[in-house]
Amino acid sequence: MSSSKENNKEHYQEFYETNDWGVSYSKIRFQVVSYVKLIELFSRKPLKRILDIGCGTGLYTKAFMDLGYRCTGIDFAESAIKKAKEQFDGAHFLQHDATKITLDDKFDLFFASGFSPFNSMDFENISRIINQWAEQIENEGMIFILGRSDLSGKKSSSGWYFHTAEQVENMYLNSDCEVMTFYIHPLLRYVLIIPIFRKSVLKLVSYFSKNIIAKMMRRPVRLVSILIKK
Ligand SMILES: C[S@@+](CC[C@H](N)C(=O)[O-])C[C@H]1O[C@@H](n2cnc3c(N)ncnc32)[C@H](O)[C@@H]1O
Repeated sequence: MSSSKENNKEHYQEFYETNDWGVSYSKIRFQVVSYVKLIELFSRKPLKRILDIGCGTGLYTKAFMDLGYRCTGIDFAESAIKKAKEQFDGAHFLQHDATKITLDDKFDLFFASGFSPFNSMDFENISRIINQWAEQIENEGMIFILGRSDLSGKKSSSGWYFHTAEQVENMYLNSDCEVMTFYIHPLLRYVLIIPIFRKSVLKLVSYFSKNIIAKMMRRPVRLVSILIKK
């Protein structure tokens, strides 16, 4: 695994003692509503139990919970879990290393937003983690992975790899799941919540975000990878 500070437990432990990502709950909730639309569009069965991986201080966990899902948030940084529990009394959080999951429960959906071990060029390790996650989800369950990239293949100023589209494909090459990746510029996320939203609209948004915004304009877009356990 990469030894960059973004993959380092002590780095996050220290970070959460005095910081957070500065994003409001209402913004995250709005995002989660749009992700739920995507999840519903591709899910082959009702997805009720969610594991929010690398949950930080718990905003996504809380948003899923408020939308009626049973959601557990896990993070390896104790300081993050402490803050999450203080902020969202009644939500379920555990300190746990998500690269070695040993939970008894099975889940329908693993949700991973900005999961730092994926900020790496070690695609074998990424596949290993994903295949291990797949063992913890029910058949036809889903792994929903959110990243960000301008597809340049360079490291961003914040220390995150902006993987190329080919590298994103490589991440999932050895996974035992059906994989779909979409590219969505943040402003275009709004179309996901309009009632006429269909797969064809998503394909159009994705094509535009990938080829015009990310590749031509070199602007980062959201990468949404949906993996369905076969
Ligand atoms: C960039 S933050 C993203 C936080 C949140 N998911 C979000 O999107 O705002 C990455 C999170 O992953 C957690 N993390 C990194 N490696 C982890 C691991 N092996 N097991 C559990 N959590 C991990 C970090 O502590 C941190 O909270």
